[in-house]
Amino acid sequence: MIEVEGFVPWTWWPHEEVGHTDESKKEIHALFGKTGAFDTPKPERLLKRIIEIATNPGDLILDSFAGSGTTGAVAHKMGRRWIMVELGEHCHTHIIPRMKKVIDGEDKGGITEAVGWKGGGGFRYFRLAPSLLEKDKYGQWIISKQYNAAMLSEALCKLKGFSYVPSDTVYWQQGRSTERDFLYAATQGY
Ligand SMILES: C[S@@+](CC[C@H](N)C(=O)[O-])C[C@H]1O[C@@H](n2cnc3c(N)ncnc32)[C@H](O)[C@@H]1O
Repeated sequence: MIEVEGFVPWTWWPHEEVGHTDESKKEIHALFGKTGAFDTPKPERLLKRIIEIATNPGDLILDSFAGSGTTGAVAHKMGRRWIMVELGEHCHTHIIPRMKKVIDGEDKGGITEAVGWKGGGGFRYFRLAPSLLEKDKYGQWIISKQYNAAMLSEALCKLKGFSYVPSDTVYWQQGRSTERDFLYAATQGY
């Protein structure tokens, strides 16, 4: 049960309180200029309301359709942790530049003033690899043709809990878990 002092959730949210489409378009223009527009942005105030109702500071918020990154930007300014997933190029055109501005304290718009946001924090960016396995014409699971030897070794390291740190001098030391424990993904027959 989450209790937010002095605030009772109500089903009718007027635009005076949570913003409107025009406001969100202006927020996006302020961040990216008119050429960096995004078709369906949400106003930061709307996300603030939702996040206030549903979460507490420090909680983890997932937006698996991140778009222009409003959810993550607002979550960050409100002291929540976040994961955003994006399939398209918006990661590079919108989300990463936006989050950098938020972190550097350069985003003065949206809810920045309302929550007293001054900047801080950080994020990590991961690119999803293709699936390791695919079915061949006989219905057998085989290593995907998109994988080269280095990718295969890195994937196996991840699956086995090794760090992928290929040695410069010893070809079979591709991954390691301890000083003496190495992983080598063979791609030739013996
Ligand atoms: C309507 S937008 C999201 C808007 C965003 N939540 C915001 O407030 O700005 C939907 C986004 O989901 C992305 N998307 C669609 N299918 C996806 C998928 N399977 N995985 C990740 N992202 C996806 C689209 O590229 C698009 O940017």
